[in-house]
Amino acid sequence: MTFKTKILCIGAGYVGGPTMTMIARKCPTYKVTVVDINKARIDAWNSDNIPIYEPGLDEVVKAARGKNLFFSTDVDQAIREADIIFVSVNTPTKTFGEGAGRAPDLQYWEKTARQILANSDSSKIIVEKSTLPVRTAEAMERILNGNPKGIEFEVLSNPEFLAEGSAIQDLENPDRVLVGSRETPSGLAARKALVDIYAHWVPKEKIIESNVWSAELSKLAANAFLAQRISSINSISALCEKTEADVGEVSYAIGMDSRIGPKFLKASVGFGGSCFQKDILNLVYICESYGLHEVADYWESVVRMNQWQQKRFVQNILTGMFRTVAGKRIALLGFAFKADTGDTRESPAISVALGLLEEKAQVVVSDPKALENAKKDLAGAEVIYEEDPYKAADGAHAIAILTEWKLYKELDYAKIFKSMKQPAFIFDGRNILDHKKLFEMGFNVFAIGKAALKHF
Ligand SMILES: NC(=O)c1ccc[n+]([C@@H]2O[C@H](COP(=O)([O-])OP(=O)(O)OC[C@H]3O[C@@H](n4cnc5c(N)ncnc54)[C@H](O)[C@@H]3O)[C@@H](O)[C@H]2O)c1
Repeated sequence: MTFKTKILCIGAGYVGGPTMTMIARKCPTYKVTVVDINKARIDAWNSDNIPIYEPGLDEVVKAARGKNLFFSTDVDQAIREADIIFVSVNTPTKTFGEGAGRAPDLQYWEKTARQILANSDSSKIIVEKSTLPVRTAEAMERILNGNPKGIEFEVLSNPEFLAEGSAIQDLENPDRVLVGSRETPSGLAARKALVDIYAHWVPKEKIIESNVWSAELSKLAANAFLAQRISSINSISALCEKTEADVGEVSYAIGMDSRIGPKFLKASVGFGGSCFQKDILNLVYICESYGLHEVADYWESVVRMNQWQQKRFVQNILTGMFRTVAGKRIALLGFAFKADTGDTRESPAISVALGLLEEKAQVVVSDPKALENAKKDLAGAEVIYEEDPYKAADGAHAIAILTEWKLYKELDYAKIFKSMKQPAFIFDGRNILDHKKLFEMGFNVFAIGKAALKHF
């Protein structure tokens, strides 16, 4: 079959894989190729065992793969062929040099730009899919358009708003799609080519068009606002624990205000994931580089609150269990940063596990999808890994719920209670369990933002 347009995505990760799969499914006349330098990842995309767990993704990949969706490691050849190139490489926080711990590490992204230039002999549209600092498109244009080949690149920003765990749903029915471009004739033409792709399935009124800088900044701002809501309710949870107010009731009451709304108001052990912290720190770094120190401080406090909430959770375990957990078996139920994903990047479970290990607890990690990643995160630490939550809890002094997996709501806690050391403790870091019922069974229950239910 000859395809109308050839799309390439560089980076076959949590964003590149699912987004391109959806485009391939919705646009059968487009050829979609996804490339990565990580051969194992590409092999997995081409196998029955795709490399990321995401509900519903498997079926969509299998339906499109080999027809108009292809996964490959031949980056150079794929660049030569492509009309539109999405760049979806990782942009983690820099760990070295200037801006370490704050600025995004743009080395993968810059390498990609140079590779695109080296392998192109026709004009192309380049789409920033990765989350990048505002004004990155300018740097990308400089690298790409200073070429002696006489070819032109139009750089667009099309940030991705999908959430892991609901990526397919989010891609199929997005709240909005954002496309930013230069407002020149060629920029507007490129913008139209990208809008046309999404228009295959996204209603026109949900496709927002803007200038390229607004698009870049909107992604950082959206993540900062989302994370801020979690840190805000988590700050209130600490006050609830001191005052016998119940954070669930407070959150419900404030969320009923239509100006506030109910979403992202759930208190927990803290937010995780590869994006929130990194994107806020990225925003903080940009603000600082423009001399906006007050703005930087304001947003940085969202990250500080999140780190404190995780420390506070470990502290509550320690004080709740008579100020010592040394030698005590503590089963961590859940290691993924949220339910329905195997992703553990920046998961609060990491800092909780490390905090408990520092206190010399015997840590057992359980998770239905994230144990392989957990083993990498805790490499070198003496930890027991046990997928079966009943076995994990067997003989434990305490259970801590760290991911809101549905299966943890449905466990037979009476059976678990009997298998545990007494007095048995539950620390519900996601507030998903029926605390009163657990207390009546005999557990000592510590939830987030609620008075502890203790038998002593
Ligand atoms: N994960 C999310 O939920 C999410 C949501 C929205 C936006 N984002 C943003 O999207 C971007 C990608 O995130 P992700 O979670 O998919 O990251 P990821 O680490 O899962 O995937 C990135 C992939 O890019 C590959 N890569 C790096 N350099 C390359 C190169 N030169 N050539 C080919 N491949 C290369 C890596 O091998 C990796 O497989 C980030 O900027 C992130 O902030 C992520």
